[in-house]
Amino acid sequence: MQFRLSEEHEMMRKMVRDFALKEVEPTAAERDEKEIFDRSIFDKMGQLGLTGIPWPEEVGGSGADYLSYVIAVEELSRVCASTGVTLSAHISLASWPIYKFGTPEQKDRYLRPLAEGKKLGAYGLTEPGSGSDAASMKTTAIKDGDHYILNGSKIFITNGGEAEIYVVFAVTDPSKRHKGITAFIVEKGTPGFSFGKKEKKLGIRSSPTLEILFENCRIHESQRLGEEGEGFKIAMMTLDGGRNGIAAQAVGIAQGAFDHALAYAKERSQFGKPIAKQQAIQFKLADMATQIEAARLLTYQAAWLESAGLPYGKASAMAKCFAGDVAMKVTTEAVQIFGGYGYTREFPVERMMRDAKITQIYEGTNEIQRVVIANYLMKE
Ligand code: CAA
Repeated sequence: MQFRLSEEHEMMRKMVRDFALKEVEPTAAERDEKEIFDRSIFDKMGQLGLTGIPWPEEVGGSGADYLSYVIAVEELSRVCASTGVTLSAHISLASWPIYKFGTPEQKDRYLRPLAEGKKLGAYGLTEPGSGSDAASMKTTAIKDGDHYILNGSKIFITNGGEAEIYVVFAVTDPSKRHKGITAFIVEKGTPGFSFGKKEKKLGIRSSPTLEILFENCRIHESQRLGEEGEGFKIAMMTLDGGRNGIAAQAVGIAQGAFDHALAYAKERSQFGKPIAKQQAIQFKLADMATQIEAARLLTYQAAWLESAGLPYGKASAMAKCFAGDVAMKVTTEAVQIFGGYGYTREFPVERMMRDAKITQIYEGTNEIQRVVIANYLMKE
């Protein structure tokens, strides 16, 4: 057993931390306030090789592993959760299914520019009437010669509008419920594919979340990912890894808030001594640090399992569920330690508390994670 990161992983952490402090943190508050997505940050991540961390060099990736990837998401999220999810959705949700199920042509056409950071990716599963019950989707893809015609809409699309490549799911045979769902790759600019409402959100406000619309959108069958009817399995397998990206985002948010709270507690004096010397605050700090460490270990373990080619679905659901709850608890306590100041936008902990909430909701609510974990337990 090895509880220490390798030199390569430590180098990845250092590189991303330096980048995050220099290029991401300085504008995080302003991007949040103005709800701005800054594409130049993504472009710079591409130049550093972060946009293709786990893919082999032959397809334009960096040839590293999933642990390196979660470390990168964690470090970005430590200063800006929006930037963390931009990378997580790009790698786990858009690139992973193409890497896993794409033909050599699809990998060359779609995965390579994603890996190289020349194009941004997104994933469309959720619909207005289909959230936790993903198999109840209504978007259709009707075969027409060697094309499919897509109709319907998807909501809550991370990177929506900004992304060039979308992995989406649609019903090709409504009589078969989840076995009648198929995955497709759709490019921005395709006639009949457009963008709807941009959400105004509580947190992760510099990550765009849009509705995407299909109105008689005609795509070639070479854009089908996997076989007809394989879409639900592809969607679920994609989320298995995606959930660990969100776990990493949650760990990063919690660590960022903890760092600020600890520094403030050492500096702020009340009743004649720093509040960090008051037991009420010490107990909070101790619990926060312990919970973050436990969440990080679950997350790294799930990433290690995936890199080792071992089953990781249960581990990833556990990591996402636990880390999301930890992020919410830790950021709430960080605001509490800051007192009245923490409630203002002068300090980043209120942004982190708003950002933390989504980690309990997206890529499957934490209630759904518990369903997933229980399903594994019953099968074992
Ligand atoms: N891997 C492979 N196959 C899987 C699987 C997995 N992880 N999970 C389920 N399947 C298979 C099952 O084996 C089953 O296959 P068979 O029919 O061949 O036996 C099939 O899929 C159906 O499984 P279930 O009966 O368990 O499916 P269900 O309809 O009851 O749903 C669920 C299960 C876990 C609740 C699922 O619907 C789910 O995960 N819901 C949450 C959806 C979600 O996470 N949405 C997030 C949207 S993306 C997002 O948030 C992105 C963002 O912007 C950041």
